[in-house]
Formats: sequence, structure tokens, C-alpha cells
Amino acid sequence: MNLQKGDRAIDGTLGLGGHTMDMIEAVGPKGHVYSFDQDLEHLEIAKQRIVEKFGKDGLKSVTLIHANFVDMAEKMKELKVAEVNGILFDLGLALPHLTRAERGFSFQQEGPLDMRMSRELSDLTAADIVNTYSEKDLADIIFEFGEERLSRKIAHMIVECRLKERITTTKQLEDLVFHAYPPQLRHGKSHPATKTFQALRIAVNHELDVLENVLPQAVSLLALRGRLVAISYHSLEDRIVKHFLRSQTKDCICPPEVMRCECRTKPVLEVLTKSPVLPTDEETRENPRSRSAKMRVAEKL
Ligand SMILES: C[S@@+](CC[C@H](N)C(=O)[O-])C[C@H]1O[C@@H](n2cnc3c(N)ncnc32)[C@H](O)[C@@H]1O
Repeated sequence: MNLQKGDRAIDGTLGLGGHTMDMIEAVGPKGHVYSFDQDLEHLEIAKQRIVEKFGKDGLKSVTLIHANFVDMAEKMKELKVAEVNGILFDLGLALPHLTRAERGFSFQQEGPLDMRMSRELSDLTAADIVNTYSEKDLADIIFEFGEERLSRKIAHMIVECRLKERITTTKQLEDLVFHAYPPQLRHGKSHPATKTFQALRIAVNHELDVLENVLPQAVSLLALRGRLVAISYHSLEDRIVKHFLRSQTKDCICPPEVMRCECRTKPVLEVLTKSPVLPTDEETRENPRSRSAKMRVAEKL
């Protein structure tokens, strides 16, 4: 992010505060960090970790914001901050989402089929989708957000099963998807339920919509030479980031006869990572969850 002392920065995805704490150090006591998370539990944990690391004074350097990052422009306006020098998105789930069975993200543990990143800001759960959406809508979600080739078969089995009983737990859904797979494909590299669980999680949290929405807001908030950094963990997210960054680097493509075009006449961003930055072997060894991370960085022109 190339943050300097006295800078202002936004962490769009506070999580447990790892990046925010690095950012607090980078901008120093004269700078400030604005950190968003939609999960209240994570804000509390991060706050505690910031106090443990910097003492209570550390909280003077950071504003913790309980909101979806899709509301970034509005929240920053309320805080009367027009520009920042860097914005980070470290997308997706944090560790407690996966390790706490009651959050319903993991098919390895028995839990309610919830999958909301924010239980405070959102009502729609994975169980609502699984038990009420039409077979076609379910198949579309599983295909589009999970890139699952067996989406139709899985959607059909969900609908058949829910006629007998409501599908309310992670294990119920895992078992159902497992049996939707032909026996010879059930024991591959990843578990048959992986893609269906990813699809439902994306649908519950509108993950792709909020990402598409926030990127232009982030560019507007960046000061000259400010940096936008996005770390994504699956190809659907990365594709959105890649296409957006590319769209901001293009010159105006209006034909010459359009004398006063409404579009940008100059590129807005310079992409600093021609291809995404991937974790090193050492990083993946230390933190296996980083293996799918892709980081892209751009600078405001
Ligand atoms: C991968 S974790 C971030 C980890 C963090 N960088 C750290 O160092 O601990 C992603 C976090 O972003 C939050 N999050 C994901 N999407 C969000 C959104 N649209 N709005 C606000 N927070 C979001 C999740 O709740 C989770 O806590």
C-alpha cells in the first residue's frame, strides 16, 4: 500500500485486525485508519487485539466501523473524510467463520445452515435459500457461484429432500450433495460439497454484487497516487477485480465524431501488478489457507 507517516487509509475487511494493525504502524500517530467489518464479533476481537498491541491509545489511530463495505462512500462522507491514501480489501471469510460450527460455513462440522457474515445486518440465511428458492434458481446459484457442473442434479435432490423434511443443518446438506455425486466422483481432491457451499455463501452475502459496487467508490475515495489493494480467494472475485482495474486503465474509446464524450478521457488507475501476486511456498506452508490468494494492486493517476 506504500503508506507513509501521517497518511489516512481504509481497511475494507478488518477481520481479526492483522492488516489494520500493520496499517496503524505504517501511518503512525499522525495518520488514521478506518476499518470496516460487517461481523460484530470480529470488530470486538480486533478491538481487543489492537488494545493488546498498542494499548488503549492505539484506538485513537483507528475508527472501527460496523458496516458492509458496500456503504463505504456514505460512511466516509458521514465521517467527513473525502480522500485516503490507500484502501485494502482482503476478501472472504475470517478464521472464526470456518472454525465456529454455529456460523454454518463449514460442512466439516454440524451446525445450522446459516452462512451470514453479519447476523446483525442481514436476515437471509442459507437455510432460507435452500428451503424456499425454486429448483431453477437453486441450480443457477450453484452453477454460477459454485461453478458446479452437477448443479441441476444437486438442485433437484435438494427439492426432493425438502419435500420430506426442512434442510436445516450443514451435515444434512453435505450428505445430500455427496449422494448427488456419482460414486466414482465422490472421493476426489476436494469434497463434493465444496462448490455448493461456496455458491450458497456467495449468494447469502451478495459477495459479488457488493464487490462490484464498492470498487468504483474506492477509486473515488483515493487521493492522487493512493493505492487500491485487493486480495481475493476464488476466481469469481478475482475476475471482478481484474476486469474493473482493466476498465479504469483504458483511454477513451469514443469514435472521433463524438466531440464531447461523457466518458473518461484519461486512464484513472495504473495497475502495478501485471499478473496477480501469489503467496510464496513458504507462506502456503505456514498458512495453508493462503494457497488460493491472489493480490492485485493499482495506483490512482
Ligand atoms: C479474510 S478476512 C480479513 C482478515 C484481515 N485482513 C486480518 O488481517 O485479520 C475478511 C473479513 O472481511 C469481512 N467482510 C467480508 N465481506 C465484507 C463486506 N462486504 N463488508 C464488510 N466486511 C466484510 C468478513 O466478515 C471478515 O471478517
